[in-house]
Amino acid sequence: MAAIRLQPEDSDAGHARALTAADLISDDDRSVAADSWSIKSDYGSTLDDDQRHADAADALSAVTFRAASDYSSDKEEPDAEAVTSMLGFQSYWDATYADELANFREHGHAGEVWFGADVMETIASWTKSLCTDNSQGHLVNQVLDSKAGTVEQSDKDLSSWSVLDIGTGNGLLLQELAKQGFCDLTGTDYSEGAIDLARNLSDRDGFTNIKFLVDDILDTKLERKYKLVVDKGTLDAIGLHPDGPIKRIMYWNSVSRLVAPGGILVITSCNSTKDELVQEVDNLNQRRDGASQEAGTLVDQEAGRNPPSFCYLDHVRSYPTFMFGGSVGSRVATVAFLTN
Ligand SMILES: C[S@@+](CC[C@H](N)C(=O)[O-])C[C@H]1O[C@@H](n2cnc3c(N)ncnc32)[C@H](O)[C@@H]1O
Repeated sequence: MAAIRLQPEDSDAGHARALTAADLISDDDRSVAADSWSIKSDYGSTLDDDQRHADAADALSAVTFRAASDYSSDKEEPDAEAVTSMLGFQSYWDATYADELANFREHGHAGEVWFGADVMETIASWTKSLCTDNSQGHLVNQVLDSKAGTVEQSDKDLSSWSVLDIGTGNGLLLQELAKQGFCDLTGTDYSEGAIDLARNLSDRDGFTNIKFLVDDILDTKLERKYKLVVDKGTLDAIGLHPDGPIKRIMYWNSVSRLVAPGGILVITSCNSTKDELVQEVDNLNQRRDGASQEAGTLVDQEAGRNPPSFCYLDHVRSYPTFMFGGSVGSRVATVAFLTN
């Protein structure tokens, strides 16, 4: 792979970019990076794919172009063990979506389905059950009964759910959620190319009611709150930046302001397990509690000025599992959190 000396400051979303993405990243580099970042398409469809996914963590180190220990910045030092990759940079995504847009215009291709079509469909149908159950007042943390209620009732329940997909990419997950009956749908991404592609695809496929906006989740301009917020692979990408640990904290702070009280956040990740995501949320809640006790902001909490906390609600249990070092795990985790 060609050596890439990309300074994070040059490529980061908040900085002027003197170099274009195409100057920095070759097609080969991009495809190695994407292939090796755990999972792209056809999740679990063949043994070869399974093997590819199993090797993903090892392969990822091959695309790490700047060791975390090399990195110096005026921000907090990144975790020494953090894995970084081109996928943590906006320049990577801008270049990727420029290619995907060209491919769409030339051949009508929709682009990558991250984690594969099966996972995407599972997320959409599972999320629908979660939301209809929630609307019907069923208890949380229980096995969901998808047969509860009539189809008409569940469609009615879903119409009240505003949905935000963070880092929507080509927007296909929103199309899948629209097929399940959600109708108030918004997708955001910091890459203009992604939003352009998502708009083109949703127009072509007849989902003209889906709204798409350019927005950086770490510096969001969104003012509205959403009853359902979904993320498929975006927190993973954010965590791959050399400042990943800090950016992940910024992510949680931002997302917790976007989910309406009583709303649901559904995160799909291939870099964190369900337990790691739950732990990350517990850490967020503890930081919050500590900060509000210190500042004596219980009054703020009561007045609803502080962002709500998340608590674990459920996770997808149907993904294929594998055994490694005596432990059973799955390559993708989809976890739902409820806000208080
Ligand atoms: C792995 S892709 C997943 C795309 C889409 N969610 C899907 O499943 O197909 C990660 C996406 O996150 C977007 N992204 C990364 N960091 C972001 C940020 N700070 N704000 C908004 N979008 C971001 C990228 O542009 C990219 O579209």
